[in-house]
Amino acid sequence: MATKNLSILFVASEVEGLIKSGGLADVAKALPKALSTLQQDVRITLPAYQKMAGIEQAENLLETQLEHWPHTAYSVKALQVDGVSVYAIDCPQYFDRPEMYAENNQAYSDNGERFAFFSAACLDMLPKLGFQPDIVHANDWHTGFVPYLLKHRYGQAPFFANTKSVLSIHNAVFKGVFSYEELQVLPEMHTRYAPDAAVSHTHVTMLRAGVLNADKINAVSPTYAQELKTELGSHGMAAEFQQRSSDLVGILNGCDYSAWSPQTDSFLPVNYKANRQSMVRGKKACKRELQQRVGLEQQDVAVYGMVCRLTNQKGIHYLLPILSEFLKHDVHVVIVGTGDPVLASQLKEIEALHSDKFSFVEAYSNELAHLVEAGSDFFLMPSEFEPCGLNQIYSMAYGTLPIVRGVGGLRDSVNDYDEDPDNATGFVFDAPEPAALLNVLQRSLLLYAQQPNEIKRVQLYAMGQNFCWNKAADEYLALYHSATRA
Ligand code: GLC
Repeated sequence: MATKNLSILFVASEVEGLIKSGGLADVAKALPKALSTLQQDVRITLPAYQKMAGIEQAENLLETQLEHWPHTAYSVKALQVDGVSVYAIDCPQYFDRPEMYAENNQAYSDNGERFAFFSAACLDMLPKLGFQPDIVHANDWHTGFVPYLLKHRYGQAPFFANTKSVLSIHNAVFKGVFSYEELQVLPEMHTRYAPDAAVSHTHVTMLRAGVLNADKINAVSPTYAQELKTELGSHGMAAEFQQRSSDLVGILNGCDYSAWSPQTDSFLPVNYKANRQSMVRGKKACKRELQQRVGLEQQDVAVYGMVCRLTNQKGIHYLLPILSEFLKHDVHVVIVGTGDPVLASQLKEIEALHSDKFSFVEAYSNELAHLVEAGSDFFLMPSEFEPCGLNQIYSMAYGTLPIVRGVGGLRDSVNDYDEDPDNATGFVFDAPEPAALLNVLQRSLLLYAQQPNEIKRVQLYAMGQNFCWNKAADEYLALYHSATRA
C-alpha cells in the first residue's frame, strides 16, 4: 500500500552539530536526516542556547509571543544541520545562559519553566510559520509537555486537527519533576489538578505527562521497551508504561557512519578499513597517538577505553572497586568524561597510584572520544542500565570490542564471545557486581594475549556489522503511520 509522505516536527533539547551533551543529540541529528532521505518533510526544533553553533548569524523567521497567557515574547531563528531545517526558539530570559541545563553540576532552578515554555512555544509557532506537521516527535522529559499540550490545548484548534504525537524515551531516569508552582508558565497547571501529569498532590513530572498523552511511544531499544514495563527497569514508572503497553515499541538507534567511520574520521592520525592489514596498521597508529595524548607510554599492550558521563548509570561504581586489581595485568586503561565530582575524585586517586597504566581525562572532548574509539582494543560500557548506548555501536565500527553489561540496547547490539564465538562482536556480562566485571575483563584479556589471530577475526567481524540509520528510520516511519491511524 502506498503511504503518503509525512510532515514531521522533531522536538529535542539538543542536536549534534549545534549543541550536544549526550547521545540524545546524536539521534536528534541523525534520525531527521535519515527521514529526509526517505523523502519525508522533517524539521527540527530546539531552544536557541547561547553556545549554539551559528546562532549569531541565523536569520530571524518570526518575532512573536505565546498566544496563551503569559504572553512571553520569543523569536524563531532558521538554521540548518546537514541539510535539515532547524527552528531555534529564542527567548533570552530562558536560554541566553552559559549552559543548557546546569552550571557547576547544579541544575538551573527554573528548568521546569524553561522547558514547559519551550514545549508550548514549539506548538505555538507552527500556525505562524505555516508548517502543519502530521507528527510532532518529542524526546525525553524536556519535551514531555508537547504531547500533553497537544491533547489539552493546541489539539482543539482546527490547524492541529490531524496532528499526532510520538514520544521517544532515551532515558526515563530523568523525569522532570516540578511543583505546580514552578510550572505557572502553563495555565493548565493553575488549577493544581493534572491527573495525567501529576505524581503527587503537589508535583507533576513532564515525562509522565508525555507518556500518558502521546499517541505512540518508543524506547530506544527493544530490550529497554521491555524493561520499562517492569518494576526494576522502569525507574518508578512501570504502571504508566504498562498502561501504554499497546502503544509502546522499541527501536534500536542507528549509527551515523558519516561521523563514525575509521575510514573517513578526520580526528585519526591514520584512517583504516575493515581488512586485516589496514585495521592492524591503522589501529596501531591510533593506539600510539592515544597513549601519547593521555600521557601513557607508547607500548604494545591491550588498551581498554571508556568515554562517558561520570554517573553510576554508566557502571563506574562496578569498575572502581576492581580497577586497581585489573591494573595488575599488562594493560592500559583510559577513561574520558565529566560529571559527578565524587566519582571524578575517586578516579583521580586510582590514577595517582597507577599513573603508568591508567589515565583519567576529566574532559568532554569529541576529538578524544574518536581517538579512544580507534586507539583502544576494548571499549568499556558496564552500565547499570542503558536505554540504547551508542558508543558500543561506534566501537564495533572501529574494530574495538565492546565489553558491556547485558541490559537495554547493549543486550540488543552486542554478541558475547563465549556464548557464540562465530557471531561474537564483543563481551557481555550480566551480574551487576564488580566481580562479574573483573571476570569479563579477564576473559577479554585472555583472548587478546593468547589468541592474536582469533581476536583480529572477531574485530573484523564487529567492523562488518551494520547499524545504519535507514533501518531505524523505516521503523520510525511505521510508528508515525500507526500514530496517524490512532
Ligand atoms: C541517552 C541514553 C543512551 C541512548 C541515548 C540516545 O543518552 O542514556 O543509552 O543511547 O540517550 O538515545
